[in-house]
Amino acid sequence: MDFNIEVNNIPIKARKGETILQALQRNGISVPTLCYMAGQLPTGACRMCVVEVDGYPGLIPSCSHPVEDWMKIQTHSPRVIQARKSVVELLLASHPDDCLYCVRNGNCELQRYAEELNVRERKYPSRAHPATIDKSSYSIVRDPAKCILCGRCIRVCEEIQSVSTFDYVNRGNVMYIGTTLDKPMNISNCIDCGQCAIACPTGALYEKDNTDIVHKALYNKNVKVTALIDHTTGVSVAEELGMKPGKDMTHIIVAALRKIGVDIIYNYNLGGDIYAREMAKLLSNKNEEQTYISTSCPGWIKFVEEFLPEKITMLAPVKSPMEILGAAIKLENNDIFSVAITPCMAKKAELARPCNAIDGKEVINAALTTRELVRFIRLHGIDIDQLEPELTNDPYGTATGAGLLFGYAGGESEAIIRSLSHILEPDTSQGKLKISKLRANKPVKEYTFSLGGKQWRFVAISGLANARAYMANLGTMKQKPDYIEVMACPGGCINGGGQPIHKDNDKYIKARQKSIIELDEKESLKSPYRNPAVVKWEQSRPDDSLLKPVFVQRDALL
Ligand code: SF4
Ligand code: SF4
Ligand code: FES
Repeated sequence: MDFNIEVNNIPIKARKGETILQALQRNGISVPTLCYMAGQLPTGACRMCVVEVDGYPGLIPSCSHPVEDWMKIQTHSPRVIQARKSVVELLLASHPDDCLYCVRNGNCELQRYAEELNVRERKYPSRAHPATIDKSSYSIVRDPAKCILCGRCIRVCEEIQSVSTFDYVNRGNVMYIGTTLDKPMNISNCIDCGQCAIACPTGALYEKDNTDIVHKALYNKNVKVTALIDHTTGVSVAEELGMKPGKDMTHIIVAALRKIGVDIIYNYNLGGDIYAREMAKLLSNKNEEQTYISTSCPGWIKFVEEFLPEKITMLAPVKSPMEILGAAIKLENNDIFSVAITPCMAKKAELARPCNAIDGKEVINAALTTRELVRFIRLHGIDIDQLEPELTNDPYGTATGAGLLFGYAGGESEAIIRSLSHILEPDTSQGKLKISKLRANKPVKEYTFSLGGKQWRFVAISGLANARAYMANLGTMKQKPDYIEVMACPGGCINGGGQPIHKDNDKYIKARQKSIIELDEKESLKSPYRNPAVVKWEQSRPDDSLLKPVFVQRDALL
């Protein structure tokens, strides 16, 4: 049912049941928000979104107030603007003035609103913030002084990831965001997904920067630097450089890395090809009742180890794409320094896992997220516009469309099904090249199909709260899936914790996925079984024991 409302003296339509903010946004009217998160229940914590409504004595938060018929709303009256300005001035009273040094300088919501609201001086005396920066985690840095208490990190971690690393501590003007027992992040229950860093409006949460160690390796004459670059990063860099979202920059990045001095650049998606092939082999030989759970996402692996230890035995005995490819490269040349370039923040923590080593030596030495990659390119003064696309190096330079699909949730399953088709029905495998059910924009996707005279059931889940709920019901399911793919980040790696940060993230995620699907369509090699680089890998294949992952039960500090 439609409501007729008036906003800034212009009649518009609103829908019964939506909030004022939703009605405004649907009609293209912008109101600033800080604590609001699309798709989550509003908390009304920050008061940034207030509007003036005829008949209401006070200003009301548009994010949490339901719209009503015949409301007359002012979104930018002098009173409203003054109230928002006061919100920002109060936040700045306890916020450091070190924007120049902040990783979010230029992409900070507080900075942006201070600018938009014309805040030109410190209204209230600065309150010293005693908090120290927590750099204890492999993946994430926490700077509580920059925190504006919006609670977005708490909600994404609790409601979307069901991890609950953070919570409010105390009340009033001594309130802060803390971890359990105020312990550092490295001994919290954090699984390193980085979704809180994507959600944070300021520089209070950000990636542990690896650009310095990569830089040092480049200037070490005794090592060769190898980078692994994938198309998920490739289709995400453009937006960070102000270009069209989704534009594939992978081969331009290859050229940029060569210019910077990286010696060898391999195709990270090849790791996906090999993983899909190994997993398909495993599935083709499994017994009827067995369900395998995916192992490609390090955030998910840590989640299972901490929260679902009873499911560890269901994790497939296959290393992650990064670890498989890293091992192959290291076995070929022990003196290289390998850098994974990735949309994923949890890869930084994966570096410390025992699976990322051969004979006690790391196979991948550093992980740069998409955001760090862009900073790294800028640091070296590379003008992207002047570069021509370049190819990755052989022998690990080629990936099939299947390897590309690992970038979004459901793509890994599709890649494995292509490999499985090749094993079980090599002549008819072309029929399973586009699986729209696994490409849908849904948190839990199921796909049932027949292959090799058997019915198969694959499930692809993204977001850890969804995965936790699904796993809780697994025991009572009549027909259990053959394969369960889980990606910690909602939507998969295209929405990884290391990706560019936007407030209206959804449209960027869609553009990235669309681009990956188009790249797969253009790619003539579809199945990992047809990839010459996989054949080469098979020939120099590491001993099976080097491909076996290690999972450990962890005690989470809850
Ligand atoms: S750390 Fe960031 S997301 Fe969390 S409450 Fe503080 S400002 Fe908000
Ligand atoms: S990285 Fe993920 S698990 Fe860790 S605190 Fe942030 S949202 Fe929670
Ligand atoms: S965005 Fe509405 S109260 Fe914070």
